[in-house]
Amino acid sequence: NNLKINIAIDGPAGAGKSTIARLVAKELSYIYVDTGSMYRAVTWYMLKHEIMPEFSDLVLQHAQNMVIELMPGADGQKVLVDGQDVSPLIRSREVNGMVSFYAQIEGLRKHLVALQQHMAARKGVVMDGRDIGTTVLPDAELKIFMTASVKERALRRFKELSDAQGLTLEQLEKDIAERDRIDEGREISPLRCADDAIVLDTTQMDIPQVVETIVSYCRTHTNS
Ligand code: CDP
Ligand code: CDP
Repeated sequence: NNLKINIAIDGPAGAGKSTIARLVAKELSYIYVDTGSMYRAVTWYMLKHEIMPEFSDLVLQHAQNMVIELMPGADGQKVLVDGQDVSPLIRSREVNGMVSFYAQIEGLRKHLVALQQHMAARKGVVMDGRDIGTTVLPDAELKIFMTASVKERALRRFKELSDAQGLTLEQLEKDIAERDRIDEGREISPLRCADDAIVLDTTQMDIPQVVETIVSYCRTHTNS
């Protein structure tokens, strides 16, 4: 059965979206699209050029002239801006702290959403973010809203840090909760569970369990 569907995965920071989305895509031979990396790449670029989010017209103008490319990398997805691999640069604490402010800009969202919709036009895409099920791919055949307790999410992120850079678990928990608050509270396509999404609380689930659950939902779908 070669029928391919689109899978939308949304949820708060550290829920496991990108890890799981990538593994699900691998298992199904689908294409993985990490939309957060696009907002991060734009944020990295604007910080580098000292264009603050208040100057939304300028942000949009520069974003429209940026060439953003996503490609598969050894661990995760690589992001290129105007041909430069910026993947190692977009996960900094600076970008973490600013990305939600740029992500509130309506024109920027419209621009990135259009790129994302284009990437998913031929189906067989697993896309993760905040507004995929609600705005980017409202017709996705399978929508997952992935959550976990903020404690567990902070702990997962903490374990990722090779050197904590003086960052405590408590600080990380605060940072994450603050970003969630901005993402949930913004006016334009906030982080929200789509009405037709399946809620998956992964607090007590390990990675293979989550992957298996989503793959089996997908198989049910494509076999019916
Ligand atoms: O991986 P993590 O959950 O920390 O974040 P991410 O998925 O890389 O997204 C970074 C930020 O980009 C989020 O906190 C949102 O502010 C924004 N974002 C968004 O607004 N819409 C999306 N579809 C994806 C990300
Ligand atoms: O993309 P998002 O911010 O939602 O989360 P992530 O970056 O994919 O996952 C954050 C961390 O949690 C990674 O180190 C994953 O390996 C880990 N994780 C986990 O321990 N258990 C899960 N069920 C899912 C992710």
